[in-house]
Amino acid sequence: MNASSPGTATPRTHVTGWGRYAPSQVLTNADLERMVDTSDEWIRSRTGIRERRVAAANETTASMGAVAGLRAIRTAGIEPDDIDLILLATLTPDYWMPSTAALVKEAIGNTKAAAFDVMAACSGFVYAFATGQAYINAGLAKHVLVIGAELLTRFLDYTDRSTCILFGDGAGAVVLSASTEPGGALGIEMTTDPQGAYMIWLPAGGAKSPPSAETVARGEHFVRMEGNATYRFATKTMATTALESIRRSGLQASDVDLFIPHQANIRIVEAVAKGLDLPMEKMFVNLDKYGNTSAASVPIALAEAVNEGRVEIGDVVTMVAFGAGFTSGAVTVEWTADPARGRAGDAAVRPEDVSVRLPVDWDSVDPIPDALAELMRRPGSLDVPLDDVAPGEPERAHREVHA
Ligand code: ACO
Repeated sequence: MNASSPGTATPRTHVTGWGRYAPSQVLTNADLERMVDTSDEWIRSRTGIRERRVAAANETTASMGAVAGLRAIRTAGIEPDDIDLILLATLTPDYWMPSTAALVKEAIGNTKAAAFDVMAACSGFVYAFATGQAYINAGLAKHVLVIGAELLTRFLDYTDRSTCILFGDGAGAVVLSASTEPGGALGIEMTTDPQGAYMIWLPAGGAKSPPSAETVARGEHFVRMEGNATYRFATKTMATTALESIRRSGLQASDVDLFIPHQANIRIVEAVAKGLDLPMEKMFVNLDKYGNTSAASVPIALAEAVNEGRVEIGDVVTMVAFGAGFTSGAVTVEWTADPARGRAGDAAVRPEDVSVRLPVDWDSVDPIPDALAELMRRPGSLDVPLDDVAPGEPERAHREVHA
């Protein structure tokens, strides 16, 4: 990153690009009915989710993040090398090290950016957005790529009906750019309440409990959640966090044209609308299609809302999220970019044109969880074969040469 000295006037932060990527494989509630003791009716009435996406065997958090990131760069009308900071929010990184942001940097063809991951679970994108805004306001970066990307289906216990029905895979991204023009990012609010530290967590794999045959046998490499406690935290905190961000923007809730809430549960979104005394029309909802994609949920929803014509120049948009930690965060922006640019940005980048370099001695097994793989092999349930290798990906035989 080429840091320049802060100038006299504090630059403002504008969202100039946005993009999203969702894997093509769809896992419906009916598919889940065949795996665990659940029903489409229960999932829809308790969560609002109808289906979610599942990454293919050749996809990773970095590959999905790179597609969404490159789409955001094309929407902004800049080149990958114009980005001088890459922030990637995820709770499902490809590796503990290097950062997934470093892999994305290479995949999008950027040579000069600093790149690092942000860990704040489902609030991660909002935290990363706030970080990018701080870099720009301090004069330390001109264009920041902020990505939320998750591959949660590889961290779910498909015998635990209370968690496996909730989550899905995908990525979303924005480009933040320094500008002297009015508008852009306004007030930020972020909170962390460690009382909730063990309410949503992934017990094994870290320094406290390194991975072993025992931790795997106990299923400690899967997401665990106290659903009711998380629900109570979310409904209480999302409204107060959003309100604080709006207040710091010098506005009131009624001034906000569209809320982009974290897409966890339709009942939580309805409770937030009620808490803010706003109609549901002001809440953007797409969780029925993607489930909870954690740090990817807000940027996917933002990109979709803009591309669907729900946001116009001059609109005030508040993004608000909550997640493990417990964390919560909200950012409010006055929209300044031409919404029509988004669709062209999406069309400019095909997933098969973006590939993440594999390690030379790569000898991985198929990473699709057994329970899902069995289901996905059934004719008709999914439209992409599991062993599909996207055009442009290295051939499997090629990988074996190095194994
Ligand atoms: N299908 C059928 N029945 C189920 C299922 C299922 N998938 N899951 C739970 N049940 C049963 C329970 O066993 C329970 O049965 P019982 O009454 O016989 O004991 C009954 O349904 C009610 O269970 P509750 O947990 O009370 O159901 P609730 O209405 O609270 O909904 C849910 C559960 C959807 C998990 C809700 O609590 C929720 O959305 N919580 C927030 C979760 C969340 O957003 N997590 C993401 C956080 S973000 C991050 O950082 C990862």
